[in-house]
Amino acid sequence: MENLVTDLNILDQNTTEACETVKTTTDQHTGKGRKLYIESYGCQMNYSDSEIVASILNKEGFDTTSDIEKADVVFLNTCSIREKAEQTVRHRLMHINGLKKHRPELLVGVLGCMAERLKTKLLEEEKLVDLVAGPDAYRDLPKLISQVDEGDRAINTFLSRDETYADITPVRLNSNGVTAFISIMRGCDNMCTFCVVPFTRGRERSRDPESIIAEAQNLFDRGFREVTLLGQNVDSYKWSPEENNKAWLEKKGITNTVTFANLLEMVAQVSPKLRIRFSTSHPKDITDEVLHTMASYENICKNIHLPVQSGSSRILEMMNRGYTREWYLGRVGRIKEILGNECGITSDMIAGFCSETEEDHQETLSLMDTVQYDFSYMFYYSERPGTLAEKKFKDDIDLSIKTRRLDEIIKKQREHSLQSNLRDVGKVHTVLIEGFSKKSVNDLQGRNTTNKVIVFPKGNHKKGDYVQVLVTECTGGTLIGKVVSPEA
Ligand code: SAH
Ligand code: SF4
Ligand code: F3S
Repeated sequence: MENLVTDLNILDQNTTEACETVKTTTDQHTGKGRKLYIESYGCQMNYSDSEIVASILNKEGFDTTSDIEKADVVFLNTCSIREKAEQTVRHRLMHINGLKKHRPELLVGVLGCMAERLKTKLLEEEKLVDLVAGPDAYRDLPKLISQVDEGDRAINTFLSRDETYADITPVRLNSNGVTAFISIMRGCDNMCTFCVVPFTRGRERSRDPESIIAEAQNLFDRGFREVTLLGQNVDSYKWSPEENNKAWLEKKGITNTVTFANLLEMVAQVSPKLRIRFSTSHPKDITDEVLHTMASYENICKNIHLPVQSGSSRILEMMNRGYTREWYLGRVGRIKEILGNECGITSDMIAGFCSETEEDHQETLSLMDTVQYDFSYMFYYSERPGTLAEKKFKDDIDLSIKTRRLDEIIKKQREHSLQSNLRDVGKVHTVLIEGFSKKSVNDLQGRNTTNKVIVFPKGNHKKGDYVQVLVTECTGGTLIGKVVSPEA
C-alpha cells in the first residue's frame, strides 16, 4: 500500500475557512475488485468518516485510488455548514457528471451532511447522482451499491440513535503515518440556532471507551505518535458502563459514568510517547476536571479550541450558545490559572449574525483583544434552511456589512497570530515531526504542543521523531527554527 503525499492540512494556519478542502487518498493494489475514489469536504469528522467508509468497502473487495480517472465508484463526502460549502460540491458534481458522459458505468454517490440534508432531492430533482447515504448509513453502502448495479438509484438517510461505528477499524487515508483522528462521539444535541449539524448528524451519542483505547493503542503500535479525539462537543462525552465493559472499566478505577476527563486520561496512559489532541470544546461544558487532567499529562497537548462565535451576550443568547461573554471570559481565566499562559486558545467567529449591530461587532473585536487567540476560523453568517435561526430570525445584515465586519475580525486575528508567534521566537519547543515542509525537501515540519507548525532543516531527523527546536524567526502562519536536541 503506497501512501500518497497530500496537501490536506486540516488546521492550516493560513486559512480562514475551516477545512473546506479535499484530497484522496491511499492507493491500494490488491487487484481484487473495483476502485473507490473518495473526496471529503467539511470538518475532521467527515475525513474520519471517509476512513470508515473505505474500511467498510475494503471488506467488500474495493481498493481505494487517488486517481478519479481509474475509479469505478466516486464518493463525495459532503458538508452543509455554509451555503458556499454546498455550492463547491454542486460544482464538483457537475464536473463529475461530465466524466460520466464518457463512462456511463461510473457510479457517483453523495455521502455526509449534504446527503442527509437534501435526501432524495439530489437523486430526483437534480439527477446528479446514483447513490445518497447519510452519516449513519455507511454500513449499508455495499447493499446500496448493489442496488445501483442492478439499475436502481439508492438512498439511505436514516439517522441512528446508537451508531458509532465502534467496531470498525478505519483505513487511514491521506495518512502521514504519524497523526490520526479518532471519533469519540457522533451527532450534536446543542441546537445552536445558526447550525445545521444537529439536523445532518442527528442525536449525540458517545462511543464505547474500550474501543477508543484499543484504536489508540493499535495506532501507537503501528508507529503513529499523535491522535486527535473528535466530537462536535467533546466535553459532553459520557459512557455508562455496560455489562460487557464493566470489568474493564473497574480495572481502570472507573465505576460510574465515564466523563471526557476520564477518557482523556485513559488515552494519555496508552504511552507517554503518544500525543493527544481533541476538538471541539464547548465553552458552556468544558470542566475544570478536563483542565486539571491536561495539566497532569505532558502528552496531552496544551491547546484548546474554544469557539466563541460572538463577543456579544445578546447575540450569544440569540445563537442559543448557552453562555454569556462573562462566562466565556471566566472559562478563559480558568484555563490560564490551571494551565498557564503557555496553553494555546483558538476560536471560531461568525460575523453578521441576525440583527448584529455595530456595537455587537465591536464587542467581538474587544473580546478578541482580551483573549488574544493564537488562531481562529472566521466566517460570515450563512443562513441554513431548516435551522432555528432561519425560522425565528431575519437574515438582515447586508452582505457588504457582513464581509466588512469579517475583514475587521480577520485583520485583528492576523495581528494576534503574529504577536503570538513572535512570543515563541527565542524559545525551545518539543516538535513531533510529521514530514517534509510544504516548500522544500531539505526541511521538515511538525507541530509544537499548541498546534503551531514549525519548519526546520532536515539533518538526519525523520518523521515520527520528537525533537527540540529553537525557534529563530516566524511569519504570521509558521515558526521557523533549528533542532537543538537530540543532535542529528
Ligand atoms: N461543534 C463546533 C462547531 C462545528 S461547525 C462548536 O460548537 O464549536 C464549525 C464552525 O462553523 C462553527 O463553530 C461556526 O463558527 C461555523 N458555522 C456554523 N454554522 C454556520 C453558519 N450558518 N454560518 C456561518 N458559520 C457557521
Ligand atoms: Fe453546531 Fe452548536 Fe452543535 Fe457546534 S455545538 S455542532 S455549533 S449545534
Ligand atoms: Fe460540515 Fe457536517 Fe462537519 S455540516 S462541518 S461536514 S458535521
